Amino acid sequence: MNTCASPVAEHPLPPSRLMPAVVPESPRRRVLAVGLIGPGRVGSALLAQLRAAQARLSRDGGLELKLCGVVASKRMWMDCDDAELNGRHGGAQIWRPSDLDAFAAHVAGNEGRHALLVDCSANDDVAAQYPRWLADGLHVVTPNKLAGSGPLARWQAIRAACAGGGRFRYEATVCAGLPVVQTLRDLIDTGDELLAVEGMFSGTLAWLCNRYDGDLPFSALVREAHHLGYTEPDPRDDLSGTDVARKLVILAREAGWSLSMEDVEVESLVPPTFASLPLESCMERLEELDAPMAAKLAAARAVGGVLRHVAHLDRHGRASVRLTVLPAAHAFAHSRLTDNVVQFRTRRYCDNPLLVQGPGAGPEVTAAGVFADLLRVAESLEARA
Ligand SMILES: NC(=O)c1ccc[n+]([C@@H]2O[C@H](COP(=O)([O-])OP(=O)(O)OC[C@H]3O[C@@H](n4cnc5c(N)ncnc54)[C@H](OP(=O)(O)O)[C@@H]3O)[C@@H](O)[C@H]2O)c1
Repeated sequence: MNTCASPVAEHPLPPSRLMPAVVPESPRRRVLAVGLIGPGRVGSALLAQLRAAQARLSRDGGLELKLCGVVASKRMWMDCDDAELNGRHGGAQIWRPSDLDAFAAHVAGNEGRHALLVDCSANDDVAAQYPRWLADGLHVVTPNKLAGSGPLARWQAIRAACAGGGRFRYEATVCAGLPVVQTLRDLIDTGDELLAVEGMFSGTLAWLCNRYDGDLPFSALVREAHHLGYTEPDPRDDLSGTDVARKLVILAREAGWSLSMEDVEVESLVPPTFASLPLESCMERLEELDAPMAAKLAAARAVGGVLRHVAHLDRHGRASVRLTVLPAAHAFAHSRLTDNVVQFRTRRYCDNPLLVQGPGAGPEVTAAGVFADLLRVAESLEARA
């Protein structure tokens, strides 16, 4: 898999329609070495997007993306002409056992080139390497929430390590491809002040709330969502609210607030007894969720409201994730399918909050969020061979 040799995606418009009226100056040329950690659903979608965009970025933007390697949990693939590193086999590149240190060193190279690691795993050991990589001048881009929401001391070490020149971007950790982290960063960088964030950060729970009208039991909808691939492989990850709490912590820290997971009040939709069950038994016992959910739905209807899974954070450090009854006219009541909605209330956007809404999960849109981060890093680089 060498993206340099990949076919160029055809553009549907004829060349005459694509020609700019004025011939621009030739773009500033930059080369960026890229290593992908985690070629799973998001990682594979990213590889396809990189391949399709590579020729256009080189031609129109002067940016040459060199994919140098891919590492999964047990094996890695490294594309380079160093026979010792690569262990070529009959002219073909071969897989070797994973070694993150060797992988990072390989992507960094030894000529001081620009190099970037994309972490598309959900692994904490990988996140633990960020401070070292960033301090060494490697850039890191990721949809992995574990660094942004993990121990505060590690988060601070990551921020401090960026002083070494490495850039760290994590837009896709919050709402996949939606511009949520960047929007918050822009607000703060331009002197605004965050007062509160409220939103529906889980596409799965948004879908469940949208569909749950009492016709089908809640457990049947959870099974359907699981079957459609809307939930995490283990639906407890969604239903427990932990994933949403992580997103809230990431946004709080972006705003400069020292929040940690233990500061977020999380109301789980699954009973504590489910935590220790194997996944199969948990799926068999989903009916235990039906009666409590039916009671919540009845309570919402009794006041003419709707049920929504809402996360809330304010500048006093109050943070919560819970199923909430909202008036039927509320902005969150009209979301569709798996939409995420994020509402920023700031000093400037005070009376009427700033809203970001759209599909907030799925490999394609998540990979696009990661890719956009990668391009932002590339855009900030000075020309270097
Ligand atoms: N899917 C979405 O819609 C979505 C949305 C927003 C954010 N995210 C985040 O994006 C990330 C990827 O999600 P996904 O759905 O693509 O997950 P996935 O399909 O499970 O892929 C995870 C990948 O990470 C690799 N991996 C695990 N541990 C590793 C290690 N120690 N070193 C190197 N590679 C390792 C796995 O390799 P093996 O196959 O060898 O185990 C696999 O290739 C996660 O952090 C997730 O939370 C996903």
